[in-house]
Amino acid sequence: MDAITHPLLDVRDLKVSIFTRWGEVKAANGVSFTLARGRTLGVVGESGSGKSITCLSLLQLLPAGGRIVGGEVLFDGQNLAAKSQREMRQIRGKRIAMILQDPMTSLNPVYTIGNQVDEPVRLHQPLVGEAIRAKAIQALRLLRIPVPEVRVRDFPHQMSGGMRQRVVGAIAMSCEPDLLIADEPTTSLDTTVQAQYLDLLREVQEERGVSMIFVTHDLGIVAKMCHRVAVMYAGRVVEFVSVEGLFDDPRHPYTKALLASVPRHDRRERRLAAIDGQPPVLHEKLPACPFAPRCAMADSRCFNEEPPEVSAGGDHMARCWKV
Ligand SMILES: Nc1ncnc2c1ncn2[C@@H]1O[C@H](COP(=O)(O)OP(=O)(O)OP(=O)(O)O)[C@@H](O)[C@H]1O
Ligand code: SF4
Ligand SMILES: [Mg+2]
Repeated sequence: MDAITHPLLDVRDLKVSIFTRWGEVKAANGVSFTLARGRTLGVVGESGSGKSITCLSLLQLLPAGGRIVGGEVLFDGQNLAAKSQREMRQIRGKRIAMILQDPMTSLNPVYTIGNQVDEPVRLHQPLVGEAIRAKAIQALRLLRIPVPEVRVRDFPHQMSGGMRQRVVGAIAMSCEPDLLIADEPTTSLDTTVQAQYLDLLREVQEERGVSMIFVTHDLGIVAKMCHRVAVMYAGRVVEFVSVEGLFDDPRHPYTKALLASVPRHDRRERRLAAIDGQPPVLHEKLPACPFAPRCAMADSRCFNEEPPEVSAGGDHMARCWKV
């Protein structure tokens, strides 16, 4: 069976709400996408579109008040949305690992690097004593940390930002996960270190055949890192497309607006620019197509009838009446 018919991850109509004192925030409102083994999915969309909540919900790591209220997260055939917290602890860090934006919040300043890379290994691998440390050193070496057998004794503050982020990558890779979720993993790094880190992640991915979800605001990173892209708007995937299709044949007006805000000749180099109009407020009632108030092509149907997922050929999908 090929990877398309049997993806590693198949998210179907996922609905996640955060219940706040202002009301229910439908942070993910029917999110669907698939991810094949060894491939990278980019998740893009403006701030508040539900990228992080979607990623966190895959691991059932939602903030207080957050709950999966519908849909399925089929990972290697098992529905993670129906698992208990106890069952999820066997999956987190072992089969699915996450790299967050800020390495300092992921690393504990009072423990050595070695202790922190040992921890998931101790938890998930049938290893004891020296073998645990050997596995941790192997993970640090995979992330190209020079002389890892010495650096294991360092504390986080003794390392540069780029090296700390590599340690976070080593922790994530230490148990050889099938899926790595990276939520804006390079935003706190300067440009040169960022480029090196991205090259490294791509090498590690190719070496290990791990699948990756890569959340980013940066279209240059999408072009460099991703095979497919899910464009999110107001808690929905509005376009799901190959990276070539994203740049050469975008179909959803929101995707087009994002790309049009960047000059064509260098658009692969630029970050998402702001587009006209206000982003939607998710705890208020939205029109049937949430993009309608900002869309130049909107008509009355767009406000009243929810647009379906429309095929734009092959496995290119856009959620719009006018694809
Ligand atoms: N802890 C929380 N409590 C209440 N609402 C939240 C919480 N976290 C996120 N939200 C809301 O859920 C929606 C989706 O947020 P999310 O963090 O997933 O956005 P995002 O696409 O990751 O944005 P960014 O690009 O800024 O990281 C937003 O409307 C946000 O305000
Ligand atoms: S459904 Fe209508 S409002 Fe929504 S993106 Fe398409 S054309 Fe615009
Ligand atoms: Mg986010």
